[in-house]
Amino acid sequence: MFFNRTLISDTPTLVGQTVTLFGWVHSKRNMGQIIFIDLRDGFGLVQVVFGDNPKLQEQADNLKPESVVKIIGEVVRRGERNINPKIVTGTVEIKATNLEILNESLTPPFEIDRESAADEEIRLKYRYLDLRHEKIHHNLLMRHQVIRFIREFLNERKFTEIETPIITAATPEGARDYLVPSRKYQGSFYALPQSPQQYKQLLMVAGFERYYQIAKCMRDEDLRGDRQPEFTQLDLEMSFASEKEILDLTEQLFTELIKTLYPNKKILQTPWPRITHKEALEKYGTDKPDLRQNPHDPDELAFCFVVDFPLFAKAGNGLTSEHHPFTAPKEDQIKMLDSNPEDVVSTAYDMVLNGYEIASGSIRIHQPELQQKIFEIIGLSKEEANDKFGHMLEAFRYGAPPHGGIAPGIDRLVMLLQNEPNIREVIAFPKTDKGRDPMMGSPREVDSATLNELGLSLKKKK
Ligand code: AMO
Repeated sequence: MFFNRTLISDTPTLVGQTVTLFGWVHSKRNMGQIIFIDLRDGFGLVQVVFGDNPKLQEQADNLKPESVVKIIGEVVRRGERNINPKIVTGTVEIKATNLEILNESLTPPFEIDRESAADEEIRLKYRYLDLRHEKIHHNLLMRHQVIRFIREFLNERKFTEIETPIITAATPEGARDYLVPSRKYQGSFYALPQSPQQYKQLLMVAGFERYYQIAKCMRDEDLRGDRQPEFTQLDLEMSFASEKEILDLTEQLFTELIKTLYPNKKILQTPWPRITHKEALEKYGTDKPDLRQNPHDPDELAFCFVVDFPLFAKAGNGLTSEHHPFTAPKEDQIKMLDSNPEDVVSTAYDMVLNGYEIASGSIRIHQPELQQKIFEIIGLSKEEANDKFGHMLEAFRYGAPPHGGIAPGIDRLVMLLQNEPNIREVIAFPKTDKGRDPMMGSPREVDSATLNELGLSLKKKK
């Protein structure tokens, strides 16, 4: 049936030829003598004309929007006055000679041929229709291009992409874990990773030296416009690399990416300013300064790195890690760990764009004694540290190289590059701001047989 199909985006090069097109009825205009259909496939939109064949016209007039059709017709050049520069096929139209309905559509719950004002619940319940909107379709195409560029850039520089487990044990990034009950070990739980932090460090011990992953991360935290419970990082780690080398590589990657994929955008300052955490707070009152000159210009990009974060933050009466407990203090600060740990400056850095934190990273600890000491300072007893992170302490005793890395959030980056106000607009199947998926109906209750099998029982609902 799909033999000899022509993609709509190829039609401008096929003037004079008869083509077979497949797609969705985007819109219909009945002008009396003539009926126009805008036909849409995954790659473009083209105008189809039903002119002088009354039977065909009647068929076209009965078409419901979003029905799936096969259309055979001749590609003809449009008259000079009728050229539509807004669409890639705007120089041509299709004179239909045959129309076949492959699958009729119900009337969608919101309009597809223009941006809809439907509320989020409805949009996400019918996400497969929402994704037909041109803008969001384009967002996902650009997201794909961004990820592809990143992969090619890193592959060329001897990085290896390695997958790490999703069903694992907790790795701390400051949020709550999503837990997965174990059936075989009742009362025990896997945790979904908040990031691949520990695995990527262990890959350094394993000798891979340059690792990256387009990694799914899961965090049970309150949602905001730039936060989802499940999101994607470019997770990256290097052995024998200095902080400067990691920041330089990051800067080069995103500068080239923007030049190539977003030629209309202007990066305000190159090289990107590198501001210490202290300076950022003093000068801008925030560790995510928005350095744009004209915040209303959608094409202005103001990047900076904020460096030299404190190693610890206050937590109740004690201290907690400002980044995560694997972050190394600056070498000359190690001696202050005993006397005044709250003043210790770390190797942690953030990449900031237009006032948003896009990435965090650091040079890591690679000596077991220092790692042990940090666990102690953040209040983990020797037993607790061994129980949770004994594998890290042990791995560091087998020739761990000095290493460090960074993890830019892909969703946040693409959100800003696509000028979207919310990361949901660049994620295919996001959750609502209440953390629900109205399409799949998640989270959902499970039946008592399933709970039993897992050795779980629920507290009575209040
Ligand atoms: P961090 O926790 O700072 O660092 O996360 C790095 C980047 O991931 C993105 N991000 C999120 N994006 C969407 N929704 C969320 N809930 C969310 N949380 C984080 C942000 C953020 O800057 N392992 C360390 C990195 C490292 O040290 O290499 C880490 O995960 O863009």
